[in-house]
Amino acid sequence: MRDEELMLRAIELARAARRHTAPWPAVGCVLTRDGEIVGEGATGPFPTGPHAEVAALRAAGDRAIGATAYCTLEPCNHHGNTPPCTEALIAAGVARVVVAVGDPDERVAGRGLARLRDANVDVQTGVGTAVAERDLAPYLHHRRTGRAFVVAKVGLSLDGRVAAADGTSQWITSAEARADAHELRADSQAIVVGSGTALADRPALTVRGVRIAPAQAPLRVLLDARGRVPAEGPLFDIALGPTLVITTEQARAGAVDAWRAAGAKVEPVAPGATGRGVDLEAAFTVLGREGVLQALVEGGGALLGTVAGGGHAQRVVAYVAPTLLGTDGAPGFAFDGPRTIADAPRWTLVDVARTGADVRLELEPRVGAP
Ligand SMILES: NC(=O)c1ccc[n+]([C@@H]2O[C@H](COP(=O)([O-])OP(=O)(O)OC[C@H]3O[C@@H](n4cnc5c(N)ncnc54)[C@H](OP(=O)(O)O)[C@@H]3O)[C@@H](O)[C@H]2O)c1
Repeated sequence: MRDEELMLRAIELARAARRHTAPWPAVGCVLTRDGEIVGEGATGPFPTGPHAEVAALRAAGDRAIGATAYCTLEPCNHHGNTPPCTEALIAAGVARVVVAVGDPDERVAGRGLARLRDANVDVQTGVGTAVAERDLAPYLHHRRTGRAFVVAKVGLSLDGRVAAADGTSQWITSAEARADAHELRADSQAIVVGSGTALADRPALTVRGVRIAPAQAPLRVLLDARGRVPAEGPLFDIALGPTLVITTEQARAGAVDAWRAAGAKVEPVAPGATGRGVDLEAAFTVLGREGVLQALVEGGGALLGTVAGGGHAQRVVAYVAPTLLGTDGAPGFAFDGPRTIADAPRWTLVDVARTGADVRLELEPRVGAP
């Protein structure tokens, strides 16, 4: 098999591990010798599982001597919860290491590759890079910026509305789209809503009916600058999952005390740029510190408007339903739009699929866009 095919196998192994590794990256490793796979591994569950390279070396045993290792991410070169993978590869006698993506973590950042080269291991990079980079995007963004990678998810009517005139929104999209949205939740370490949605829908923000359950329930995050949401209902039922409220100093003291008494964590940040809501960059930094690689922002329209319209989303997933809610319906992205078309935020369509009766669009900010 060629290098590209073997790296794709390592990428598949990484994908299968992705719901139990955060805040570690989900990494895959394949070891080959004489054209045969002699060991495979993926990152074990955080915080005690083995790294992918170590799992693959264990599987290979003596057959690792003179082998080639295909690693989706640069092997680590530092003592964290586990010893350095570079030393394990060198000690096992691996002759060649092929790497898809360099690790921007400041404790690695090229030092893993340098250590291997110093030990006369033949190192090759740039194999399977585009696919692995896309899979690792939340991890790479987190390590480069300290912030969570933000996915904005929305269920829209054909005319771009998220709720009818009376505020009802359940359900605009089909059961298949809602099931797919639960898969997105399972791939995220936090699910974020604004105070409007918390008040209108009393959501539980739990993961239900997914193919592979995440090892840990995602953090349920409420953005409530003024303390409008009472500490009651499923969101404050800590038995369902952990809850974090990101607020500001403007919040009523009584609200903060009640959130804490219900078992929620409360983090104050600065108010948003317009004096409304919370500062989003600060909020996503708080999530980054909590070990959240990917945060799924689920709405409503006011929050999605500032998140996507303000350039805070690294990905948008929109389910567009064949229904119309008209001008009295709530807009999916409520923000002061551009005055002229040349200033409109632009996105690149990276995937389109049919999901039940709906169309699922996946978009990323256009490269080079401000
Ligand atoms: N179809 C769907 O996919 C979907 C999904 C979710 C919700 N919904 C519907 O959407 C409606 C609720 O939407 P909504 O627009 O009223 O409320 P929302 O976006 O959920 O919440 C808006 C509120 O969040 C707070 N907030 C905190 N930080 C913010 C920030 N940086 N930017 C914007 N807001 C921030 C603000 O209140 P403070 O200043 O008081 O903090 C703001 O008024 C409901 O009818 C719900 O059913 C539909």
